[in-house]
Amino acid sequence: MKLKIENLSFSYNCIPVLDNVNLETSPASITALIGPNAAGKTTLLKCIAGILKPKGRVLLNGRAINNLKIEKISSYIGYLPQEGFSSAALRVFEAVLLGRVHSLSWRISDDNFALVSQVLEGLGIDDLASRYIGELSGGQQQMVSIAQALIRRPEVLLLDEPTNSLDLQHQLEVIDVIREVTRKRGITTLIAMHDLNLAARYADEFVVMNRGKVYISGTSESVMTSEMVRSVYGVNAAVYMDDEGVPQVTPKSSVRRKKGGDCYA
Ligand SMILES: Nc1ncnc2c1ncn2[C@@H]1O[C@H](COP(=O)(O)OP(=O)(O)O)[C@@H](O)[C@H]1O
Ligand SMILES: [Mg+2]
Repeated sequence: MKLKIENLSFSYNCIPVLDNVNLETSPASITALIGPNAAGKTTLLKCIAGILKPKGRVLLNGRAINNLKIEKISSYIGYLPQEGFSSAALRVFEAVLLGRVHSLSWRISDDNFALVSQVLEGLGIDDLASRYIGELSGGQQQMVSIAQALIRRPEVLLLDEPTNSLDLQHQLEVIDVIREVTRKRGITTLIAMHDLNLAARYADEFVVMNRGKVYISGTSESVMTSEMVRSVYGVNAAVYMDDEGVPQVTPKSSVRRKKGGDCYA
C-alpha cells in the first residue's frame, strides 16, 4: 500500500510539534525517518498510527484513514512504540496472540494459533514461544515486539527506534528481519532511527526531520550530506561513499551552539 502524509500538523497543549509535514512512501520499501532528539519523529509515527489526532491527512492508497476508529486503523498499520513494552509476565506465544485481540472471542480459533506460530517462525523465534518475556534478552524482546506489530498482517509497519539498546549483531539481525518481511509481504515500512550509517545501508528512502518539519527527503545520496549533518545535527562530519556506494558519515566535531539552539555560522 502507498502511504501518503498530507499537510500534517500537531500541537501538544498548543505547543506546535509538527508543522505541515508531507511525505510519501512506496510498497515493499523501507523509509528511514531520521533527525535529532525532539525533531518530532515519535509524534509523527503516533499521528500515523491513529494514537494522536493531527490536522491534515494520512492516506493509504489514496484513502484518508486518520478519522477512522483506532481499531480500524490498527488493522492496516502495525506500530512498534519507542518505549519498552509491559508484557514481561506473559509468555511469548500469549503476548503475540494478544495482538489479535480485536478478533478473539472467548474461544481462540485454530487460525489464530496457527498465525502466531507462523509469525514466530518467520522471525526465527519460534523456539522462544513458551519463554517468559521478562527473561529474554533485549534483542529477543525486540523480536517479540516486532511479532506483535506483524500479527495483524498490517500493510504499513511503523517502528520507533527498533534497534535502540541492541548490540551490533542484534541491530543487524533485527533490521535484516524487517527488510525481509518488508520485501516479502510488500509492506510499507517507516522506521525512526538514530544511526545514520545503519539507515544509509538499509533504507530505500530517507526523510530527515528537524524541529517538526521535513528538512529534506529522498535517496541516501541526496540526503546524507555533510551540509545536512551540520545544519540538522549541529555536527561537522565527513561523508564518504563506501565500497558498495553507500554514504557513510564520520562525525568530526560539534558546531558550537548559541542559547536557543541556533548554530553559529
Ligand atoms: N506527551 C507530550 N506532551 C508534551 N510535549 C511532548 C509530548 N511528547 C513529546 N513532546 C514534545 O514534542 C517534541 C517532539 O518530540 P518527539 O516526537 O518525541 O521527538 P523525537 O521522537 O524526534 O525525539 C519535543 O519537543 C517533545 O518535548
Ligand atoms: Mg522518539
